[in-house]
Amino acid sequence: VASPDAAATTTRARREATGSNVGEKRIRWATQAMPVMAAVHERFAAERPFEGLRLAASLAITAETAVFARAAIAGGAELTLCSCNPLAVDEAVCRALSKEASVLAQRHSSLEAYYEAIRATCATVPHLAIDDGGDLIVALQGDRRSHRACLAATEETTTGVSRIRALHRAGRLSFPVIAVNDAPTKRLFDNRYGVGQSTIDGILRATNALIAGRRFAVLGYGWAGHGVAARARGAGAQVIVCEVDPVRALEAAMDGYEVMPSLSVAQIATVFVCVTGRPRALSAGHFERMPDGAILCNSGHFDVEVDVGALRAASVSVQEVRPFVEEYRMPDGRRLYLLAKGRLANFGAAEGNPPAIMDLSFATQALTLASLACSERQLPPGMHDVPASIAAEVAQAKLNAMGFAIDQPSHEQEAYLMSWRHGT
Ligand SMILES: NC(=O)c1ccc[n+]([C@@H]2O[C@H](COP(=O)([O-])OP(=O)(O)OC[C@H]3O[C@@H](n4cnc5c(N)ncnc54)[C@H](O)[C@@H]3O)[C@@H](O)[C@H]2O)c1
Repeated sequence: VASPDAAATTTRARREATGSNVGEKRIRWATQAMPVMAAVHERFAAERPFEGLRLAASLAITAETAVFARAAIAGGAELTLCSCNPLAVDEAVCRALSKEASVLAQRHSSLEAYYEAIRATCATVPHLAIDDGGDLIVALQGDRRSHRACLAATEETTTGVSRIRALHRAGRLSFPVIAVNDAPTKRLFDNRYGVGQSTIDGILRATNALIAGRRFAVLGYGWAGHGVAARARGAGAQVIVCEVDPVRALEAAMDGYEVMPSLSVAQIATVFVCVTGRPRALSAGHFERMPDGAILCNSGHFDVEVDVGALRAASVSVQEVRPFVEEYRMPDGRRLYLLAKGRLANFGAAEGNPPAIMDLSFATQALTLASLACSERQLPPGMHDVPASIAAEVAQAKLNAMGFAIDQPSHEQEAYLMSWRHGT
């Protein structure tokens, strides 16, 4: 018979492994790296910008998202949260948040369950929506009651911004959407330093592979590609960039990377990371050429960049060889290793972007939402930028928290910039 002490310890261990305690610890850990959000939380608690408003968010549900959610709730929001990706759900965090918000998400849910959660979120008839990838905004447009009630929305990622722009071009967007992704305090940091680090983290956690000395292909040299390439180079890889945009390809070349067409890289690289935001960046022609042991990874928003259907069709067997690693065996005996089933590997196999990065993304989101909630002026339907003053405020707060001071331009310098009179 176990002693009462041992029984209590076992019960506590079990509770910690399964209960909201684990989620709380993760949220606490994230909070200490998010000082800008701490200040936003305090301000929202005092000013209550969302009093009487229903907010609906479709986001990766992580500890950092919980920090954002709690700030919105402190600001008076009635919040419903669903996931923007079936893999990007931390269930311990969902449990921890479930007393304060309605959380409609399950990790590894089927696509039907995923879209059912999106529809249920729409059915709350939100006043403001926060999206990451566009699924919630697209669904809101299809819901008669909700698209009339929704005052505005924000969009967190590159792929979502291009989807919502297309929705607007098709004449099917009934409310304004702010492209939070395009704010400098989002994409220069989250897409670059966040995705750069967390994608390498996902590859390492999934495979424990040595990066040094490998030929490492980065498909897509946007901000996410800049980050992945820089971090792979930092770990000792020989980085090769594949692009379709000549300006970005030229930039990669002058940043010191090898630049090649993807079918040529397919023959020599042993790690492939897609961050293009487009379908089939890697497909049958690439799989035919890849060397034995090649690692295939996607960090673009949707699971369309590695053509998993073509990979399956080309293979003779598929088996999971480690968590988040599937081995596809080709007829000639080569083995190709797909991470996180071709979904976002930085969320699937790691924890997503670090909290210090999400501090910037969520502070930009939160202040943008508060400005929408408090504005007298209704923006027209369409895509809009985050006000430059919000990006400057977030960057300044982060600099302060990091202990960096900067100079102010003098009156003379400001006047010089405003004048056409001064020449040589
Ligand atoms: N995993 C995450 O946490 C995370 C975070 C931010 C953004 N994202 C996603 O990452 C993707 C990239 O984001 P971004 O901001 O860098 O986008 P971006 O549009 O700035 O860059 C994408 C680049 O890919 C290039 N490209 C397009 N098709 C290509 C192809 N077939 N081969 C090679 N290059 C190709 C484009 O020319 C462009 O330069 C998007 O889907 C975005 O939503 C993911």
